[in-house]
Amino acid sequence: MSFFKVESVVKRFGGLAAVDNVSFEVEKGDIFGLIGPNGSGKTTIFNLISGFIKPDSGSINFKGRRIDGLKTHKICHLGIGRTFQVVKPLKRMTVLDNVMAAAYRRANTKNHARSIAMETVEFCGLGGRADHLSGKLTLGDRKRLEIARALATGPELLLLDETFAGFNPTEVNEAIKLVEKINSSGVTIIIVEHIMKVIMSISGTIHAINFGKTITQGTPADVAAHRGVIEAYLGEPGDAQG
Ligand SMILES: Nc1ncnc2c1ncn2[C@@H]1O[C@H](COP(=O)(O)OP(=O)(O)OP(=O)(O)O)[C@@H](O)[C@H]1O
Ligand SMILES: [Mg+2]
Repeated sequence: MSFFKVESVVKRFGGLAAVDNVSFEVEKGDIFGLIGPNGSGKTTIFNLISGFIKPDSGSINFKGRRIDGLKTHKICHLGIGRTFQVVKPLKRMTVLDNVMAAAYRRANTKNHARSIAMETVEFCGLGGRADHLSGKLTLGDRKRLEIARALATGPELLLLDETFAGFNPTEVNEAIKLVEKINSSGVTIIIVEHIMKVIMSISGTIHAINFGKTITQGTPADVAAHRGVIEAYLGEPGDAQG
């Protein structure tokens, strides 16, 4: 039984096949990179995995159970957490309250939710800002909060969608450390990231797509050298950072 498996998944929006027969497997404990130019279908794949949309065909399995078509809260409860490309914390709530709201997914009492949230906030490097209003955070800290909210739900598989966009090099290095720390704590990760340095340095395996279709999958070195990947990125005006 594979830990996580996407099999021949298709998702169309009108005439456009946003995800076109994509298949991949993720081993427990991996950091699995998903790359592709703008509009290639990465976020759509995350939306399919987390249940925001349903595939037109194909299947998604998590720990031996078919999950495509299940409701988002059910998928979250089964152990798949995600961040959003566009960060939407509740701005007038504190960092801790934001994370507590997520922790209620698995906590029965307020005290339990609070203790999960405190631990998660600390783990994500936001301990000193637990009582700050979320709307006042720097971009880097907002991204940390977004990760903390996903982690507080207790995922075994975490989907990170361009968590590092807009970061300076110092913030990028800190974020890499955080992702590695999350992975070391036993969480399997699928990461979508435009910054090549990040995805290449932390992923064990990379799956590359373009126009919704798989180009190739392999080690970072193999994928970076793949002709189809190079061509896909060369065709993207000024966007292939790094
Ligand atoms: N809800 C939707 N309705 C119609 N079209 C959509 C919808 N969601 C995504 N698309 C289209 O599907 C394609 C894939 O979009 P998606 O957001 O998955 O790309 P992406 O790889 O995440 O891009 P980016 O790197 O810019 O975030 C795009 O052409 C997009 O316009
Ligand atoms: Mg996207």
